Amino acid sequence: MAKVLVLGGGGREHAIAWKLAQSAQVETVYCAPGNPGTAAEEKLINLPLNPNHPQAVVAATHSLGIQLVVIGPEAPLVAGVGDALRHAGIRVFGPNQAGAMLEGSKSHAKAFMRRHGLPTARYGRFTDTPNALAYLRAHPFPVVVKADGLAAGKGVVVAGNLAEAETAAQQFLQWGPIVIEEFLEGEEASFIAIIVDGQVLPLAGSQDHKRLLDQDQGPNTGGMGAYSPAPVLDIAMSERVLREIMQPAAQGLMRDGTPYCGFLYAGLMIGRNGPQLLEFNCRLGDPETQPLMMRLRSDLYTVLLDAARGEPLPTALDWDSRTALCVVMAAAGYPEHPRSGERISGLEQSFPDTVKVFHAGTQSRDGHIVTAGGRVLGVTALGESLAIAQQRAYGAVGQIHWSGVQFRRDIGHLGLPRH
Ligand code: AMP
Ligand code: GLY
Repeated sequence: MAKVLVLGGGGREHAIAWKLAQSAQVETVYCAPGNPGTAAEEKLINLPLNPNHPQAVVAATHSLGIQLVVIGPEAPLVAGVGDALRHAGIRVFGPNQAGAMLEGSKSHAKAFMRRHGLPTARYGRFTDTPNALAYLRAHPFPVVVKADGLAAGKGVVVAGNLAEAETAAQQFLQWGPIVIEEFLEGEEASFIAIIVDGQVLPLAGSQDHKRLLDQDQGPNTGGMGAYSPAPVLDIAMSERVLREIMQPAAQGLMRDGTPYCGFLYAGLMIGRNGPQLLEFNCRLGDPETQPLMMRLRSDLYTVLLDAARGEPLPTALDWDSRTALCVVMAAAGYPEHPRSGERISGLEQSFPDTVKVFHAGTQSRDGHIVTAGGRVLGVTALGESLAIAQQRAYGAVGQIHWSGVQFRRDIGHLGLPRH
């Protein structure tokens, strides 16, 4: 029986750990640091460990006798925790630092896309204001201005005119280089695959909702809800994404001499000319993971362990044919200044088997669960159709409450007309 360590403590990691624990081969899943949701699950144990500290993670892995480490968020990947674990001879699912640069630097990712012929918006990279301004003056609006490094969703501005673009460019240039790119029209979708040195095993398609408010209004967030499958990624479009993006990306990593073992997330804009890449992430999406793990039928532990061992990947994963939909319940003030410490009611009840409440920014305090972050819960439901999954998820959302809670009421709206 295996012991697994999952790094991270968000909703994504709750869902990954919960799914890993369903494997008959898994005895215990340690979550570092985990959250009150993982603490309450059978077979899961929280560890007070900083997931971004390579040597601390290596030491804990040795002392606990861990067979597999699964890295959830980008920060430990970009910090080189994957490298340190591999160096210590520990099986790990999650790329090394060099592979994680596809997420850690936008300009690195854009250069990679250009070098390997992947479809993406035209762009320029700038390190000073005069050159950035000259580029902005020579290109039509809107344009998209992006900070080069990790910015937790806060480093992207879609600018409608020169003044907005200039303000964003000057702000981001204080942190480092910037990327300015052409605005793409279409519908966004998330296509995630397991990549192991040239091999590609796609996950089911999904769709996130990045804006805070209904009808895709308001500021960008980490994601306010997601569902899978996403009708925009039908069979033909998924095949195109595999052929035009994921397979060339896996080959490109090989050609560049960058070994890669982990999830690769393609943030897509699907428009008239087909799928275009907005970004790469070197991990699963949050909240896309919550519906994906609800639908996954394959044994996640076996798949990730085989991948970490460099064994041939299966040709496909097994998915529940139903739709899963996750509504994120966020704290008052999210995304700018989330309010912590609000007592959450409604979590004690038992929800139907088709509903799962994943924790993210929560904390146990004096026997109660309180808010402790921006995105607090991911209420996820399975349904025979998108509409049924939506009804069930919102039914459960209606039972949970705290002061100032925010959530979108239209998760799944783009998929409904097509379903
Ligand atoms: P990113 O972190 O690069 O995915 O950007 C965050 C969000 O900004 C995306 O989810 C899109 O909604 C928007 N965005 C980024 N790049 C573009 C683009 N080139 N055209 C249109 N929208 C974009
Ligand atoms: N849901 C978007 C992301 O994980 O980056």
